[in-house]
Amino acid sequence: NEGKLWGGRFEGGPSPELEALSRSTHFDWRLALYDLAGSHAHAKALGAAGLLTADEENELHRGLTALGERFARGTLRPGESDEDVHGALERLLIEEVGADVGGKLRAGRSRNDQIATLFRCYLLDHGARISELVLDLVGALADQAERHLGDEPAIMPGRTHLQHAQPVLLSHHLMAHAWPLLRDVERLADWRRRVEADSPYGSGALAGQSLGLDPVLVATELGFTGSTANSIDGTAARDFVAEFAYVTAQIGVDVSRIAEEVILWATKEFDFVTLHDSWSTGSSIMPQKKNPDISELARGKAGRLVGNLTGLLTTLKALPLAYNRDLQEDKEPVFDSVDTLEVLLPAFTGQIATLVFNVERMAELAPQGFSLATDIAEWLVRQGVPFRIAHELAGGCVRAAEGRGVELADLTDEEFAAISPHLNPDVRLVLSAEGSVGSRDGRGGTAPVRVREQLADLRKRVDDA
Ligand code: ARG
Repeated sequence: NEGKLWGGRFEGGPSPELEALSRSTHFDWRLALYDLAGSHAHAKALGAAGLLTADEENELHRGLTALGERFARGTLRPGESDEDVHGALERLLIEEVGADVGGKLRAGRSRNDQIATLFRCYLLDHGARISELVLDLVGALADQAERHLGDEPAIMPGRTHLQHAQPVLLSHHLMAHAWPLLRDVERLADWRRRVEADSPYGSGALAGQSLGLDPVLVATELGFTGSTANSIDGTAARDFVAEFAYVTAQIGVDVSRIAEEVILWATKEFDFVTLHDSWSTGSSIMPQKKNPDISELARGKAGRLVGNLTGLLTTLKALPLAYNRDLQEDKEPVFDSVDTLEVLLPAFTGQIATLVFNVERMAELAPQGFSLATDIAEWLVRQGVPFRIAHELAGGCVRAAEGRGVELADLTDEEFAAISPHLNPDVRLVLSAEGSVGSRDGRGGTAPVRVREQLADLRKRVDDA
């Protein structure tokens, strides 16, 4: 068992089959720099506890720094026989500084508290990166919203059940996609507060350590605000991973809802948007094709992100305390979620930023499909008609218009009057998409004045995030 972290009680080495199953270096090597940072901090704690001479501690720092430099140059690699990143780095450190001093570093720590700490550090870094990328997307949506909020704000058909419902401002609709993404960023910030306060170093294998090491010193060195209160929890808990996986899945789902609309909007039938050439793809056989692949991949990858969350929760379900090797299965799904979002989000943001909206087409369709029927009903309410009756009368207008194959605004004064004497020609005031949108001026509504305030709110929340 040369170069292994364990072996004293075993007569022979592990079988090749076991080694193949057990090995995790092909995915946990990406934690190497975090492992080295943890080792620097741990060496300090050992020094502070009087377990290393100053020379020994310096020698360990020197060796660890050298490994870090080799890693940065891309020349540090795990070996075939290394089980995981921790074992590989200990072996490499011993090659660098010798076994006498290199062999002292492992005192008072276990791979169980190591991995629980490193994985937090890794996710904190990538959580920050993903937050930035999501904020870029929110920014692109806000820019598009602002672009279409000029003197004549762009109006589109608002839908429920994918049917024409009521006209809304395009900017209002775009920001309806921005707010959930901003909440995802806030979820990550909230998650971060909990994770940062909870460094598991010092938990040992599960019961803590007996060498007088200071877990708070290590926590502070690694950028945590506190260390874990319970060593069993510190080594066994993975809710911090699951919560991270949930937020990444939610981001995927939120992006997929935009993606689906872009895909619909880019169809000949909708014709609401034109995709930028650099952010769309062609077909190998059909020369005319311009495909929304970015949105389709976003839609597809949402499934993958949800799958990663589901797989992780399934691994965690009913696991007894404390550490179990099952927990090694927590990394690949979440690494995949990180990689997926880090490659998806910049492409998706580029696609959104360069969308060209066909505002004439949207405006033309906005009042169609009887989408102003609610405006008639609410106009009648303002004339004192009970809503139940107003709803019936507006429904009568729809029936009359549909029977004649025209829109509500095409009904004649006589036709309105025949439906109800309440329906005098003034009702036409609300029979335009602009009038309808402008009238919805309560807080949160789609009136231009409210949507401009909303945009300012959104920008401020982005700045504060
Ligand atoms: N590679 C392991 C993991 O990812 C590290 C901890 C291993 N601990 C152990 N006792 N085998 O969970």
